[in-house]
Amino acid sequence: MRVAMIGTGYVGLVSGACFSEFGVDVTCVDKDDSKIATLEAGKMPIYEPGLEDLVAKNVEAGRLSFTTNLVKAVADADAVFIAVGTPSRRGDGHADLSYVFAAAKEIAKAVDGYTVVVTKSTVPVGTGREVEKIIFETRPDADVDVVSNPEFLREGSAIEDFMRPDRVVIGTKIERAQDVMRSLYRPLYLTETPIVFTSCQTSELIKYAANTFLATKITFINEIADLCEVVDADVQDVARGIGLDGRIGRKFLHA
Ligand SMILES: NC(=O)c1ccc[n+]([C@@H]2O[C@H](COP(=O)([O-])OP(=O)(O)OC[C@H]3O[C@@H](n4cnc5c(N)ncnc54)[C@H](O)[C@@H]3O)[C@@H](O)[C@H]2O)c1
Repeated sequence: MRVAMIGTGYVGLVSGACFSEFGVDVTCVDKDDSKIATLEAGKMPIYEPGLEDLVAKNVEAGRLSFTTNLVKAVADADAVFIAVGTPSRRGDGHADLSYVFAAAKEIAKAVDGYTVVVTKSTVPVGTGREVEKIIFETRPDADVDVVSNPEFLREGSAIEDFMRPDRVVIGTKIERAQDVMRSLYRPLYLTETPIVFTSCQTSELIKYAANTFLATKITFINEIADLCEVVDADVQDVARGIGLDGRIGRKFLHA
């Protein structure tokens, strides 16, 4: 199984390194020459505990490489992950999808044979369909399925989060695409990680729903902190008092 990771930022680099640790052949692609040169020199462009060793080990084993040559990496791949940035747009806060769409176009021109194109970037619902449209407009003959596979890792514990996730979400109803995703994540099957197979749109919504739910918990406890000041109560004790309820949970209740 060969993977091309388009975008070697936080998510692309960690995911690429972890897939190579799973035994997959991974080529991480970035258009930033200096980032690729840094990685080729064995240095990390980000600080993440354990990453340097993981990268070195898999480069040494011949399973992980870095390039600016998207065309070759994509042509050789069974699965191509889009892991480019989706920054909030100035003014309206909407996700800027221009990098995702530009990557989709470049990928379409380069695919060779059956390829699963996987959106790992965090994208609004419906983006998978847009990516699919771009690919088939660019290459009507492309043999491609588009899958959503959002990432839930946290910076600072990214490797642990990727290797031992609470769940993996895979958005596609197409069986041959599911088979490719299943074999990429095979080691997680062995550890009985819950794998949620669903539609592309549902998968995209799961990521947004998870992010907004976590934001809601923080916002809620901040509101309670304001109330505590008014009534002379202790917000830490409130957080503990409600968080010990299994239905609420203790995490993400730090005012
Ligand atoms: N960082 C996190 O903790 C985290 C966690 C979960 C999800 N996400 C999501 O994952 C996505 C990526 O985030 P990130 O933090 O890794 O971003 P990042 O900015 O660190 O990396 C993006 C990389 O993509 C490269 N790139 C852009 N267009 C390209 C192209 N056409 N070809 C090749 N390379 C290209 C850029 O040069 C950059 O190196 C975002 O949607 C983000 O919301 C991030």
